[in-house]
Amino acid sequence: MKERKLGRGVAMVGAGMSTFGAFAGISTRDLLADAYRDMIATVDRGFDPNEIDGLYIGNFSSELFEGQGHTAPIMTEWLGLAHRPATRVENACASGGTALRQGVMAIASGLYDVVLVGGIEKMSDLPIERATDALATAGDKLFEIPSGFTFPAFYATMASAYLDRYGLGAEVLRAVAVKNHENGALNPKAHFGQRIADVMASKKAAAAKKGKPVPQWKDIEEFFADDRANPMIAWPLRLFDCSPVSDGAACVLLVREDLALQFTDTPIRIIGTGQASDGALHGRPDITTVTSARIAAGEAYAMAHVTPEEISLAEVHDCFTIAEIVATEDIGFFEAGKGGVAAIDGVTSRLGARPVNTSGGLKSKGHPVGASGVAQAVEIWKQLRQEAGPRGIGANARLGLTHNVGGTGQTSVVHIFERR
Ligand code: COA
Repeated sequence: MKERKLGRGVAMVGAGMSTFGAFAGISTRDLLADAYRDMIATVDRGFDPNEIDGLYIGNFSSELFEGQGHTAPIMTEWLGLAHRPATRVENACASGGTALRQGVMAIASGLYDVVLVGGIEKMSDLPIERATDALATAGDKLFEIPSGFTFPAFYATMASAYLDRYGLGAEVLRAVAVKNHENGALNPKAHFGQRIADVMASKKAAAAKKGKPVPQWKDIEEFFADDRANPMIAWPLRLFDCSPVSDGAACVLLVREDLALQFTDTPIRIIGTGQASDGALHGRPDITTVTSARIAAGEAYAMAHVTPEEISLAEVHDCFTIAEIVATEDIGFFEAGKGGVAAIDGVTSRLGARPVNTSGGLKSKGHPVGASGVAQAVEIWKQLRQEAGPRGIGANARLGLTHNVGGTGQTSVVHIFERR
C-alpha cells in the first residue's frame, strides 16, 4: 500500500457536541450552535473565533430531512462566523468523518491554520417511513432500492451471512447491544441513557402504571426474545440491534500542530487518516467484511506508524450491532469471525482489553447520521484527555481510533488520534 503523509501536523484543541435525541422543532442550526458552545468551553486557553479560517460541515441530507439545502453557509451566519468559507461534505453516514478528513487536509496542505469541523443531522421530524426512505437513498437506486432494501435490511443481509459463515447465533449481536447501552447510560449526551436492565424496569413500571399486564421477563435474554418489547425489524435484527433515528450535532476545532500549545497543554494530535470507497452491497464478493474499512484502516495505521494492538480505544460505526462486530475485525482488533465472541467475553467492554464504543456508540448514544463521525472524535478527545467522567478508561489511554462508514461501506473513513 502506498504510504501517505500529512504535509503539516494537525491537532484537535477543542471538541463538543449537542445532546443527541429526538427534539421536535429544533433545527440543525440550533443543534450545531449547542455543539459549538460546548466545544468553545473545552478550549483550555480560549480562542478568538476570528482565527477560524474555514469550516467543513458533514451532513447527509438536510434537504430530505429538513427541507433545507445549502446548509454550510447558513451555519456560518448562525455561529457568528460570517464570510468564512464553509463547505458541506456529504458521504452518507460517513459525512462527519469525511468532513474531519477535509479539515485535516486543509491544514496539512498549508491553506488554513485553524478549521472548524462540524457534523449535523435532524432526522426525527419525518415519520419513520419517510426517514427510512431518505436513509435508503444511500443505497443503490438502480439495483437495491427498487428491490425493497432499507438500511435495516442491508445490515440484516450482512448479519445473516456473517452468522451463517461462522456458525454463530444472535447472542453475539445482543452482547453488543447490552455493552453499548451500558456505556450510553454513563453518557449524559446519549439519546438512550438506559442500560437494558433499566429499560426492562421502565417498561414494567409503565405497564403497571397503565394497569396493563406487567411483563415477567426472567432475564435480558427473555426480554430480547419478546416480540413485543424487542420486535423483529429485519431478520435477524431486532429493535435493540438498531441505532435510533436521532437529531444532533458535534464539532471539533483543528489547528496546525505547532500552534496547538497556544490553545491547550493537552492537544490531541491526528496522526493518521485513511479513506476508501466501494461499490454497493449487491455487487460485493464478500458481505461479511467491509473492504473499504480494511483499506482505510490500513492507510491510517501506515500513516500513524502504529499497529492495531497499540490502540487504546476505538469508536466504531455500530449503526447495527452486526456493524460493530464486523468493524472490530476490519480495523484489525480481531480475526474474521471473532469480533462477536470478543463482545460476549467482555474484551470490548469499557474496562476490557480493547474498549469499543465507550460513548455508547451509534446504538445508544444515537445516530444523527452526518454528526456521528465527528461525535466519535469528541469521545476520543474526552477519553485521551481523561475527561470522560465515569465512563473513562483510565490514564494510560494514549491512542484512539475512529471508524465511520457511509451506507453499507461504499465509504469508510478511519482516523487515529494521539495524546503525547
Ligand atoms: N433501539 C432501541 N429502542 C428504540 C430504537 C432503537 N433503535 N428506536 C426506537 N426505540 C424505542 C423508542 O424509544 C420507543 O420506546 P417506548 O415505547 O418505550 O417509548 C419505541 O422503541 C418505539 O419508538 P419509535 O420511534 O416509534 O420506533 P420506530 O418503529 O419508529 O423506529 C426503528 C424503530 C428501528 C425502525 C428505527 O429506530 C430505525 O429505523 N433505526 C435505523 C436507523 C438507520 O437505518 N440509520 C442509518 C443506519 S446506516
